[in-house]
Amino acid sequence: MNLSSFMPKDLVYPKAAACLTEEEKKDYIEKISGLLKEQNAAVIAHYYCNDDVQALAESTGGFIGDSLEMAKWGKKSSFDRLIVCGVRFMGETAKILSPEKTILMPSLKAECSLDLGCPAEEFSEFCDQHPNRTVVVYANTSAAVKARADWVVTSSIAIQVVEHLHSLGKELIWAPDRHLGSYIERLTGADMLRWQAHCVVHDEFKAQALEKLKQMHPDAAVLVHPESPAAVVEMADVVGSTSQLLKAAKTLPNSKLIVATDSGIFYKLQQACPDKELIIAPTQGEGATCKSCAHCPWMAMNGLKEIYEALTAGQDTGLHEVHVDEEIRVKALNSLNRLLDFSEKLAGRK
Ligand code: 13P
Ligand code: SF4
Repeated sequence: MNLSSFMPKDLVYPKAAACLTEEEKKDYIEKISGLLKEQNAAVIAHYYCNDDVQALAESTGGFIGDSLEMAKWGKKSSFDRLIVCGVRFMGETAKILSPEKTILMPSLKAECSLDLGCPAEEFSEFCDQHPNRTVVVYANTSAAVKARADWVVTSSIAIQVVEHLHSLGKELIWAPDRHLGSYIERLTGADMLRWQAHCVVHDEFKAQALEKLKQMHPDAAVLVHPESPAAVVEMADVVGSTSQLLKAAKTLPNSKLIVATDSGIFYKLQQACPDKELIIAPTQGEGATCKSCAHCPWMAMNGLKEIYEALTAGQDTGLHEVHVDEEIRVKALNSLNRLLDFSEKLAGRK
């Protein structure tokens, strides 16, 4: 089986969220704030969302985080309705963990190229061909793929989980991100059969251009998300999930940071390091297509107008509410719970 064949060839990027005037933004923020209180609802946003959306989550008592933190916060919160601003797998994860809550999204069409690159049926067939392997999948997958897996991991905890499984002598199937998979394999030495999808944002960071940028800023530290190509990861001072990169940005002594991840993270990076110079890593250079140009086209679908629409749409429009088939949900919950339990134990050990 040629694993790379599952990466969709001609991805059509969606239209970004509506462009609003300052006046319109103020108006939407006011209306959304009222609706959130009325509906006992909260906004949960990923770090890659547009600034307006992250600011709304902050000002209305919601949450901003990486994919693991979003899942944990949603599960623990007492809100009846969660507006998940991110991409579909994040909304599905919230529903899997909190089936009693109404999970809404600004758009259910907010995809992820990793999720699209790992169709459940083909993946399941592949797993069937290797029945002795433990199946570990990244959170950036559909509920059906999570249901087929033994473990779900996020980038913040993937190394520790694979180290643990490797120490038990397990051989693994890994899906779907090829770069994160090879990074984990290099670090842990685990035996991993790796699916070959990629993130359209991180895959575009260019090592040669980064080398030149580093020469221009020799005092800068380089922060890299592990969905980036190996040659870029090799140049990093810190490799980590979005939250781990933010933490490192604060503690590193460097006054300049070159950042290889989605530019949405600059909203929180600027707050965390107001005195540091922040530079986005290059997506230009030899072989560059710069289609996403360091911002996820599906994250960009989340906007104030779309959040308002999600809160006011009737139940049956099929445009905003996340549903997960109950049989799939229960299976996916098993593999997600392994992740959550593991992460609690790890936190307890620190
Ligand atoms: P984090 O798990 O680091 O938040 O990244 C997930 C991701 O790629 C979201 O697009
Ligand atoms: Fe998926 Fe990449 Fe977008 Fe994250 S940034 S949602 S991994 S396409």
